[in-house]
Amino acid sequence: MPSPLDVLPVAGGVGLPWDIAVDDAVAAIAGARERHGDTFVVDSGGGHYLFTFSPTGVESFYSLAEETASKGVADFLMLRRKLPEEVFAGRRLLPSSLFRRDDVTSYLANLDRALDATEIELGEGGTVDLFALTRRLGHRMGLASWAGPGCADGEAFERLVRAFDVLDGSDAFVHPDAMAAVAASGMRAERAALEEIAEVIEDSLRQHDSTLGTGDRLFSRIVSAWASEAPDVRTRGIAMDVALIHIASMSNLMAALGWALVDLIVHPDQLDIVVAGDRELATRCALESTRLAQRSIMARAVLESVVFDTGAGLVEVPKGWIIATLLPLLNTSVAAGLEEWDPRRWHRHRLADTHALPSPMLVTAFGHGRHSCPAQPFSLAAMTMAMTRLLGRYDMTPAWNGYPRPVPAQIGGVARAADPCPVGYTVR
Ligand code: HEM
Repeated sequence: MPSPLDVLPVAGGVGLPWDIAVDDAVAAIAGARERHGDTFVVDSGGGHYLFTFSPTGVESFYSLAEETASKGVADFLMLRRKLPEEVFAGRRLLPSSLFRRDDVTSYLANLDRALDATEIELGEGGTVDLFALTRRLGHRMGLASWAGPGCADGEAFERLVRAFDVLDGSDAFVHPDAMAAVAASGMRAERAALEEIAEVIEDSLRQHDSTLGTGDRLFSRIVSAWASEAPDVRTRGIAMDVALIHIASMSNLMAALGWALVDLIVHPDQLDIVVAGDRELATRCALESTRLAQRSIMARAVLESVVFDTGAGLVEVPKGWIIATLLPLLNTSVAAGLEEWDPRRWHRHRLADTHALPSPMLVTAFGHGRHSCPAQPFSLAAMTMAMTRLLGRYDMTPAWNGYPRPVPAQIGGVARAADPCPVGYTVR
């Protein structure tokens, strides 16, 4: 079986944005694909990446087994550029355990309360940055859902918002060009933010302990997971579990909500129908905006050499390599019309008509296969609720200069807007 280096082209002069300065990370890989076709190797930062874009290659990608080609390890390799080691080590409740059915009901109740607080902050009218608004909303909903008592209000909330905005794991793929400076500083700012988070959670835990807080709230489940430990270990462990869960929640959801609001504001006909209560249309709009805003690099770290079908033949990808594909180079271009925002293309959580696609796996908002997003139903319900409430309460008028652009260096997750995205609003 040939190794990729025996049979595949190596894209010379191309690197990933953590390793070399790149103006537009997605455009750099798009250029390599134009020159070399759907399967090629990128050597970057001492590592090998096999990029795959063919229908068979992408299908092979989604069927890779975690034991041999790991998403968890690939994510860790990316996030550790931004997050100190101790955020990962020894976690007991992981972000993947967040989505039991009753959990989602409680998160949505917290979102409803967070929207109440947002309306109080917004008042009757003014101008606000749309993505800053959705980010703050996400912090409030998330911290009410999985941090301890008092963490979504007052000074404790403000301290956590400031700290999590510094300790934002998604910087690793939104601002990959900043990671060399993070490493050079020894993660000084990130470690200070982590200490601040630990302090606030410790205060909150004291409150929880003194009121004999119990129940099935996620925070109580985290506390139970550490029940048998000595006080110091327990306190630290709880704080780090909360930190990693909140960081995971910050990756995509509130940016996706920002794009959904942007797209509805520029499509007032659909906005009117959504505001009138058409939840199905709202869900389709959420999926459509998320599809278009996808900048995700999907990556798997090869743990044991694995046979991979590129579509042009089989190769044996060695241990230590990364196999990857890039959603923005597929989602909007694998069939005619995909560059347009058209919510009608979705039916429930799937594309209504895939016959024009060489493979249905070439287009996605929440992924395919075994690693597809466990938070999809929750995220769509949350986006739908927030879109309906915010746009139902306020008339919003764009005050931005042209449709927002994604951060050019971003290579992962849902796009962040490169420029401010102000919107004028008045109560309807
Ligand atoms: C609009 C919001 C979101 C979008 C567009 C999104 C997108 C995705 C995608 C595309 C994947 C698959 C990645 C791959 O195959 O490499 C994924 C996986 C995952 N997402 Fe989400 N996500 C969203 C919200 C969330 C939230 C709020 C959480 C949790 C706090 C979350 C937790 C996860 C986890 C734990 C996985 C990994 C699942 C596994 O490996 O089996 N996601 N997400």
